[in-house]
Amino acid sequence: MTPLKALILAGGFATRLRPLSCTRPKTLFPIVNKPLLQWIFERLANNGVDEAILAVNALTQFYIRQYRPPKCGLKVRFSIDPPKMPLGTAGPIKKAEKLIGHEEPFIVLNGDIFADISYRELLDTHRKSGALATIALCKVEEPSCFGVAELVNGNRIKRFIEKPAKGEAPSNLINAGAYVLSPEVFDYIPEGRAVSIEREVFPKLAEEGKLFGLCVNGLWMDIGKPQEYLDTNKIILDSLANRVKLEKPKNFELKKPVALDNGVSVDDKSIIGPYAILGKNVKVGKNVQICNSVIFPDAEIDDFAIINGAIVGEGARIGKHVKLGKGCIVGDQAKIKDGIHLHDGFAVCPAKEVTENILKPKIDC
Ligand code: GDD
Ligand code: MG
Repeated sequence: MTPLKALILAGGFATRLRPLSCTRPKTLFPIVNKPLLQWIFERLANNGVDEAILAVNALTQFYIRQYRPPKCGLKVRFSIDPPKMPLGTAGPIKKAEKLIGHEEPFIVLNGDIFADISYRELLDTHRKSGALATIALCKVEEPSCFGVAELVNGNRIKRFIEKPAKGEAPSNLINAGAYVLSPEVFDYIPEGRAVSIEREVFPKLAEEGKLFGLCVNGLWMDIGKPQEYLDTNKIILDSLANRVKLEKPKNFELKKPVALDNGVSVDDKSIIGPYAILGKNVKVGKNVQICNSVIFPDAEIDDFAIINGAIVGEGARIGKHVKLGKGCIVGDQAKIKDGIHLHDGFAVCPAKEVTENILKPKIDC
């Protein structure tokens, strides 16, 4: 039997959630302390996929190879973008043509989406309709930052518009970033340049009546957006809450649900949780409070710091008595000096040192 293949578009995999990531992250981007890539592999394997092809740049390939996430039984291959020439969202599909082959329809995924989509159902719908491309569609309130589909006759897409102006979207059904494509689609993608599947390929297929959609209702999160990233972590924590057993610590307090990875240390009287996720080797001082937040591996949080609703990057240092407001992002290896208060929504770039209070929201690079 021909193996079922999935291409994962992951151009900026190692640098998602800019400005969080530095250029040399030691770990892959995690959701509840497990790489997003591993979550994706697990879902693909559970949907009967045999092979995952990662369309990435050379740097991202380097990090993935270094970290080696479990492959969950999949055969994993890489298709590398040419140096200094991103190929967009369709160019990498054309580039991987030989690896994918022409035998069977295949799956394509945007790598920055965390979603509960049945790829089997998407494949079945594709096979039944005779489409060349079938897009998973989900309903959102504000569709203008996405690709929007106008459906006719059940599930044929009559029009596909990428990021329409506000108020001009023909529907609330957006491209969820998961497709099944038939090999004929390779002929719609010009070779050797950046091509957008959303702006160049889908509109043409829609015009020819060969583009179909399948509405999906499960969890769908764009984890490239900080608040959605925090929300996704919360939802997953809730779903894991009954499965993870944590011993009651003697010197500090754990308020469930929480997740503590290996090597985490917490000093006296600190309160961790609810909804605190601490990555590998995170060090927490005395009398610290952390809730509704994700702390990446190797970060250090000093005594009396208060973190609520923030994301703290890999190896960042948070000083004594520091306060991080809702939606704050501290980039990898950044340092926040003792006593500093950061306003809600403030983002500190990787390796940056903050030495004065920031009371207005902005990005400090
Ligand atoms: N290999 C490679 N090379 N991957 C790329 C490149 C590239 O040059 N450019 C983008 N990608 C990958 C990104 O890493 C991401 O996983 C995916 O392609 C989509 O690109 P984004 O830049 O994240 O697009 P977007 O979020 O603005 O819009 C896309 O996703 C929406 C759903 O979140 C579109 O597909 C929309 O139609 C869709 O609604
Ligand atoms: Mg995106």
